[in-house]
Amino acid sequence: MSFTDDISEVLISTEAIRARVAELGAQISADYSGKNPILACVLKGGLTFLADLSRAIPIPHEIDFLAIGSYGPSTTKSGVVRILMDLESSIQDRHVLLVEDIVNTGRTLAYIVENLQTRRPASLRICTLLDKPDRHAIPIHLDYVGFTIPDRFVVGYGLDYQEKYRNLPYVGVLHGTPNIKRQT
Ligand code: IMP
Ligand code: MG
Repeated sequence: MSFTDDISEVLISTEAIRARVAELGAQISADYSGKNPILACVLKGGLTFLADLSRAIPIPHEIDFLAIGSYGPSTTKSGVVRILMDLESSIQDRHVLLVEDIVNTGRTLAYIVENLQTRRPASLRICTLLDKPDRHAIPIHLDYVGFTIPDRFVVGYGLDYQEKYRNLPYVGVLHGTPNIKRQT
């Protein structure tokens, strides 16, 4: 059984993702030359993007991971999120690039940024594959954005709906989900 039947529209093709990741990798390599940055991936959604982005960055860099959870199904709406798994490395005096799958309201990222800033990194920037500017609820500065997308619920290339569809090699819209209960 394939997932493909559940997808009503391919929003961003595998080829488009590959081309954009190559561009982002080149830009990040130029910006971080000589800085040995840490790419801090936000699990689980950022995993696929991180894996491809890291290989598109030829300069030396490290990778690390953190996982964020909410206290309930819709509590990030109130900004109540917590760190389920923390970075392994100390980021003090290090150049950190946060790697996210998607920015929706921006609350998850704002929480992570505030938390990581207390550890005094040399710099902290954000790289997100997808951005939904129509949904931003708080001001957040994004340094690198793969694609700006409309307010649709998307899956694939790491993004899930109830833990499914992360393995799709493209970003697509699920059948009948334009008004799905948002998983934020
Ligand atoms: P925010 O805190 O509202 O910015 O929510 C960000 C998180 O919600 C992301 O890291 C995703 O895990 C999830 N999310 C938001 N929009 C989508 C979507 O369209 N598809 C899948 N997950 C999403
Ligand atoms: Mg995420």
